[in-house]
Amino acid sequence: MRITDDIKYVGVNDYKIDLFEGLYKVPNGMAYNSYVILDDKIAVMDTVDTGFTDEWLKNVQFALKDKKPDYLIVQHMEPDHSSNILKFMEKYPEAFLVASSRAFVMMKNYFGIELAENKIVVDDGDILSLGKHVFTFFTAPMVHWPEVIVTYDSTDKVLFSADAFGRFGAVDMDGPIVDEKEWEGEARRYYFGIVGKYGLFVQKLLNKLKDVEIQTICPLHGPILNANVEHYLKLYHTWSSYEPGEDGVMIAYTSVYGNTKKAVMMLIDKIVDRLHDGEHEKDSFKVCVYDLTRCDMSEAVADAFKYGKLVLATTTYNAELFPPMREFISALTERNFSNRFVAFIENGSWAPIVAKLMRERLEKCKDITFAKNTVRMVSALNDEGIEQLEELVKEIVS
Ligand code: FEO
Repeated sequence: MRITDDIKYVGVNDYKIDLFEGLYKVPNGMAYNSYVILDDKIAVMDTVDTGFTDEWLKNVQFALKDKKPDYLIVQHMEPDHSSNILKFMEKYPEAFLVASSRAFVMMKNYFGIELAENKIVVDDGDILSLGKHVFTFFTAPMVHWPEVIVTYDSTDKVLFSADAFGRFGAVDMDGPIVDEKEWEGEARRYYFGIVGKYGLFVQKLLNKLKDVEIQTICPLHGPILNANVEHYLKLYHTWSSYEPGEDGVMIAYTSVYGNTKKAVMMLIDKIVDRLHDGEHEKDSFKVCVYDLTRCDMSEAVADAFKYGKLVLATTTYNAELFPPMREFISALTERNFSNRFVAFIENGSWAPIVAKLMRERLEKCKDITFAKNTVRMVSALNDEGIEQLEELVKEIVS
């Protein structure tokens, strides 16, 4: 598939995969992208997952026609992109490997051999000319691993962005230009799943790229972004700075016998009533709810970062938080959850202590504003609890 006159797509789609990184559900599969850049010298950009060696080498060969590649540029050493380096070097032994010094250390660790003869080590700002195309490399540590580099082609104004700007899901490369909204949901889940912890490093990369004109982004997963690139850059600015993307509240709950769920449903009704009371008319304010025992945890995590307000409702269990809530809060704190309003609904038939436990965990996060009102239930919602809910609603829709 053609990306520009000289840049061809040679990636593959994985429709068999169930869990990306053994953790994230990918019902629409996964794309492992790879590119060939044809010029006086020829470069191949990254390899693909181990299950697709033959298909990928065939794609590369088709793009090359009867030519030979001069370089294999390795932007990232995670095996979904690096597994076929040795196969490539066996087939094209005269090619040079281009990567960061850390990537070469990882190659030795993965493959057990020193690739000393055919290597070009690149660092921030280093340049590689293919002839017409001139590549500038930027180090991008922790986006998503420490050895990552991204590559800018100043001729076609293309950014090869490694894992950044990726998205879960296989890709129909012959299909229409990406639907921005359709891209956003799975790209957010991907971002906060795999890179969310390292927002500061993503910011550093965006800062390095701020004076670079980008017309097309070629990531290692998901579709090529070749229209309205500013939109995607802006989303990455928002996500990496932990700013809420939309005005709204995300409510995450667990409920053992249904009483906590009842309180959550009443909270939602009262929020909706207040949003339409004539005084607070707010069409843009969104409300979303997740039952943490049944939902996809990575979707809940992504939406917790999407909205500015979060309500957590759960029960005591073994003198601790009900397990999925424990998992959820850990997923947020380890990803540097910050800059949010957080409220609690607690329930416990004989030990209602979870609001305190949740707060203790989230107090370690930066810039969290805790609601003044906590809803406290001892088994079921009573009049006092309803009053607390109503006060909380005033804080959520102010
Ligand atoms: Fe797609 Fe971090 O590998």
